[in-house]
Amino acid sequence: MESFTYFGGTLRCEGVSLTEIADVYGTPTYVYSETSIRERYQALDAAYASVEHLICYALKANDNLAIARVLGELGAGIDVVSGGELFRARKAGFPSEKILFAGVGKTRQEIAEAIDADILMFNVESPGELAAVASVAEAKRRTARISVRVNPDVDPQTHPYISTGLKQNKFGVAAEEVVSLYRAARDHANLDPVGIQMHIGSQLVHTQPIADAVARLAELVRQLNDEGIRLRYFDIGGGLGIRYRDEEPEGPADLADQILPTIRELGLTFVCEPGRFIVGSSGILLTKALYRKCNGGKTFVIVDAAMNDLIRPSLYDAYHEIRPVAVRAGSGEVVDVVGPICESGDFLAQARELPPIEPEDLLAVMSAGAYGFVMASNYNARPRAAEVMVRGDRHRLIRRRESYADLIRAEEGL
Ligand code: LLP
Repeated sequence: MESFTYFGGTLRCEGVSLTEIADVYGTPTYVYSETSIRERYQALDAAYASVEHLICYALKANDNLAIARVLGELGAGIDVVSGGELFRARKAGFPSEKILFAGVGKTRQEIAEAIDADILMFNVESPGELAAVASVAEAKRRTARISVRVNPDVDPQTHPYISTGLKQNKFGVAAEEVVSLYRAARDHANLDPVGIQMHIGSQLVHTQPIADAVARLAELVRQLNDEGIRLRYFDIGGGLGIRYRDEEPEGPADLADQILPTIRELGLTFVCEPGRFIVGSSGILLTKALYRKCNGGKTFVIVDAAMNDLIRPSLYDAYHEIRPVAVRAGSGEVVDVVGPICESGDFLAQARELPPIEPEDLLAVMSAGAYGFVMASNYNARPRAAEVMVRGDRHRLIRRRESYADLIRAEEGL
């Protein structure tokens, strides 16, 4: 169901008008639909229901504790990529047996924290990391469960910055080296190889590249079986895309048809690490227009949100739809929607046809729930935005707007 719809000429999140959110919490503010988050998770859960599965939410997409808790209560596991995310996952109440630790550069300190927490498994990305996990586990007289992240060398057909499964990317272990890594893990008293993992990229509109990669990993699982190395988990990573503009992304049901027969045949528990699919379209960034100006034949609408709040347009040239909260009558115009930051790269939309916008109007930057707030910074000493969760006709603050005092909290020697 659509969670952001117009009612009586005003855009709402579920049953709450975004005008009311702006009145209560100010702008810029991230607004999330809890119902949408639940429904997106449940769509995945239903698509994979025919096999034993664990959906590990990729916390990096949106690490607010309230959002993580909603997913934890629905039964999700969690995919963390740093000691900080492990800390957050535990604060959100995730049990250790549902925590995965991914990432190409885990420090010994982070490895130690994860071993102390007795997490489900590490997704290991190199021989050096395997050795580090083994030595930390040995020093603690513990056994670490591991998966090897395989680089399947497939083209995910997405933005190069978020494409990860090509052999020239820094991620994963080349297929030729995978079996020897498992042998080393099997032969080490403090390692237990339990899974195999991949993640080929993000915002994938087509599922075929994932299916191709699954076929390559399945081949490796068979080779490992022949050597007596029997795994329990097959983790396909995240990557399912959402609609930002006019994409028609294939979804979990399409993917399930393509890959679950293989997983079933191998007899493994299916694991995935979705982030964007769950939270992307479940959130918006609410902002207010400050000024209009014309320069060099272009019209700029200057708003109170900026690249420090949502960097995706500046960094990836990403398209986010912009909707006025209350639509004005009159003909549309082509404008650049820009923030107050002192850089020309600070824009939310360029050359965009929008209905007329006047100062004080509220705008919703759509599909900003994933990689929005988490990538925010304090650039230009801008306090980070508030975050609000809506469910039905109720709303609650899940992160207060930062204050000026927050900006200097960690600084010393004043
Ligand atoms: N698993 C691994 C190992 C990952 O690296 C990622 C995302 C995920 C799961 C979750 O992927 P998702 O389901 O969200 O596609 N900041 C970029 C996206 C970076 C994705 C990084 N890895 C953006 O704004 O588009």
